[in-house]
Amino acid sequence: MLVASILLLFVQFASYFCFDVSEYLQRFLSYHRNISFYYEAEPDCEIASVLINDDTRYPSIKIFATGGTIASSGDSTTSNAGYSVNLTITDLLDNIPELSNVAKLTYQQIYNLGSNELTSLHVVKLRNEILQSLSDNSGVVITHGTDTLEETAFFLELTLNSCKPVVITGSMRPRTSLLYDGLMNLYMAVSVASDKSSTNRGVLVALNDRVISGIYATKSNSNSLDTFKNDEQGTLGIFVDDTINWFVQLPYKHLIAGKFADSKHLLNIEHGFQLPEVLILFGYQSVNIELIELAANHLNLKGIVLAGTGSGSWTDHGNMALKRLSGQFNIPIIYSTRNSNGIVPVGNLPKGNFAYSRAIAAGYLNPQKARILLQLCIIEGYSIEEISSVFKLVSGGSRS
Ligand SMILES: *[C@@H]1O[C@H](CO)[C@@H](O)[C@H](O)[C@H]1NC(C)=O
Ligand SMILES: *[C@@H]1O[C@H](CO)[C@@H](O)[C@H](O)[C@H]1NC(C)=O
Repeated sequence: MLVASILLLFVQFASYFCFDVSEYLQRFLSYHRNISFYYEAEPDCEIASVLINDDTRYPSIKIFATGGTIASSGDSTTSNAGYSVNLTITDLLDNIPELSNVAKLTYQQIYNLGSNELTSLHVVKLRNEILQSLSDNSGVVITHGTDTLEETAFFLELTLNSCKPVVITGSMRPRTSLLYDGLMNLYMAVSVASDKSSTNRGVLVALNDRVISGIYATKSNSNSLDTFKNDEQGTLGIFVDDTINWFVQLPYKHLIAGKFADSKHLLNIEHGFQLPEVLILFGYQSVNIELIELAANHLNLKGIVLAGTGSGSWTDHGNMALKRLSGQFNIPIIYSTRNSNGIVPVGNLPKGNFAYSRAIAAGYLNPQKARILLQLCIIEGYSIEEISSVFKLVSGGSRS
């Protein structure tokens, strides 16, 4: 009813100014009637293919190499620690001739670092390069260290809005290891990015046969090859015997995916650029609340994320300090949890005398992802109410 009235108003308004409304109306209608499927058939999702050898067309895939274990060498074939990044994307691709039957590849060594060294400058730069290259390619693959891979994947989910596959991969063993997983993971990532069925699924994390959503993916094991998981939300698909097999058949798009794709603040960034300062505080027995005071007074904080105990609990003493400091500095406080599964519901936010208006529940977002979502809200200049409405898009999140 509301939509119909708005439409009517729009048509009247448009006719009054004598411009052709049919195109706008058609777009509006096709978008809204297909609201649950709108991710299925977008025109810019034509697979850009490239003619090779006069007769075979291959999808064109651009690889962005950033470093990580996948580009590292160790001291021996059995060592699995203390190795360092010293290989480039060409060193890896030279060893996967099979890829010439999968895609037409171009590549860019955007930097070459372990992902523990990455800052928001690196990640925003990567995002902007991907944004530019998506129009000329069928999809994008990123090689990345696994330590903070989930943060980059989540950031890209929030700041890109393309139906084309953006697939991020890495490895858990260095190139020198007997059990090097990098070549197969890279082969898999390019194969997934090249497959038409991978469109409209957002950012995909592809390692160790498994394809999972960049929204939920998290590193679950510090050493094992089988580390990227999202237990509760499930695997999207599995790459077996050269084929991507999807468990989730419908086009998949999360409510917060692409939420910041139109941000102007991420473009044309300068050398010293960093996302706003948001600190993560870890909860444990006898946690020293003075940490909160010190941080708020000395770090020019724009927000705090709590890695609380259980479903986001914090101490009463701490909640009183947070209530006071969030008012004094006008900063949001996001309640997340130190546990790797489950959610922080609004029902577990501080109550009674401890309740305060800048407290927001992180829902299922772990602290490092809640931090990224908050940083993007802050850089956009969102009010507390607007930040709260963004966290409402995260199941269980926001405030009552
Ligand atoms: C909705 O989507 C289907 C399938 O993609 C398409 O055939 C149909 O024309 C669309 N409807 C509208 C109103 O655009
Ligand atoms: C990388 O480091 C390994 C181990 O230290 C060494 O054997 C290898 O020659 C280096 N490779 C390059 C390309 O520098």
